Amino acid sequence: MSLSCLVEYHDRQPFIRSVACLLKGSLQPFGQSLAMFHLHRKPVVHHVRTCAPACTYPLPVQPRPKPAPVSDRLAETPEEGYFVLTNVREGLPADTPPITSLRIVAVPAKTQPEMNTPNLGVTADDPGKCVLGTVPVERDGSAYFVAPSGVPLFFQALAADGTAVQTMRTATYLQPGQKLGCVGCHEGRSTPAANRRPMALNRPPSRITPGPEGSWPLRFDKLVQPVLDRHCASCHTPGKPGGRWNLSPDAAYHTLVTYGQPSLRDHVQTRYREGRSVAGQGAAATSPILALIRKGHHGVRLEAGDMERLIVWMDTYAQRLGSFSPAQEQELMLLRQRWAKLLSP
Ligand code: HEC
Ligand code: HEC
Repeated sequence: MSLSCLVEYHDRQPFIRSVACLLKGSLQPFGQSLAMFHLHRKPVVHHVRTCAPACTYPLPVQPRPKPAPVSDRLAETPEEGYFVLTNVREGLPADTPPITSLRIVAVPAKTQPEMNTPNLGVTADDPGKCVLGTVPVERDGSAYFVAPSGVPLFFQALAADGTAVQTMRTATYLQPGQKLGCVGCHEGRSTPAANRRPMALNRPPSRITPGPEGSWPLRFDKLVQPVLDRHCASCHTPGKPGGRWNLSPDAAYHTLVTYGQPSLRDHVQTRYREGRSVAGQGAAATSPILALIRKGHHGVRLEAGDMERLIVWMDTYAQRLGSFSPAQEQELMLLRQRWAKLLSP
């Protein structure tokens, strides 16, 4: 049988190498249907069976050979695995600026049983965050890098100025020794991956270049306050010409998260409510504070390292802290020593 309607590979499950089963709600006139496709020929439906009342996520139950166990392989390299990203631009809007690196952020587990306690940032519900650092993205959008296994991680795609173009708001993790691939930021569900070799695979895996001081684990007082002390405090403490915006240590966090329209707090809370991040609308890229400084502000000149500190803090959603207790913070610092071989010298 062949159908002239638009067909889409959806929730596909291979039966044998060349025939897949799929579900497509709109296979008119069949309605919710189970169909069989031939993968290597023109997409023609071979068999359709209408399901009543529904057949969401069908699984083939034909017996097949038991896969070989893989546990032995996992034990060989206990601490690390590899990520291969084929093209970061898949899934990002076409007018996205070049993506030159990825930021890798670890999500430390919450250690306290009480909800929203301690409060790490502006939503009261923020997860722990620990910036492991950045890895390069090649010209073709590919990346290949080592990362610690057994740690929940998420990624940010960074433009050349270091600001995040897109942030992953779910975590993924590696098994020891695993090489895990992904396509873009991300590919559409029915898009096949491009059949070409990623440039990043022509070289050894990148090691992670650690972020600025105070980002592993995240701490506003160590990451951002030193920049304010060096470049802003002379005018932005009570009694000074810019005293209306107090950037001394006890007031700076509040001043920075509430400044401007939308303020950093508005930005983070909106993203929190929506539960998603929007490509091209990152916290640093849209920050009124960075715009003010970049435009020229009373002769303030921030070196690249200081700018990076502000950007990292804003793009990791303006948290005051990234760990839930001093003991956890200590553990994260020890992990940094233990993972030294994964990091760029
Ligand atoms: C910066 C862009 C970006 C990159 C690069 C990226 N992701 Fe994601 N990822 C996302 C977004 C956006 C989502 C959708 C859900 C969300 O908002 O987190 C997601 C979701 C996921 C999910 C959850 C899927 C689900 O159904 O819950 C996994 C797993 C994942 N990504 C793994 C990876 C892996 C593996 C890589 C490659 C090393 C990768 N991601 C690279 C942005 C990205
Ligand atoms: C040489 C003095 C000086 C330095 C250094 C300085 N500022 Fe300012 N800033 C001012 C003055 C003066 C104002 C205006 C105060 C007013 O309107 O009451 C101001 C205003 C501001 C405002 C509010 C702008 C508005 O009108 O909406 C922000 C935000 C700000 N500064 C941030 C910073 C930051 C961040 C730094 C450091 C990176 C910094 N400033 C360094 C003098 C300075």
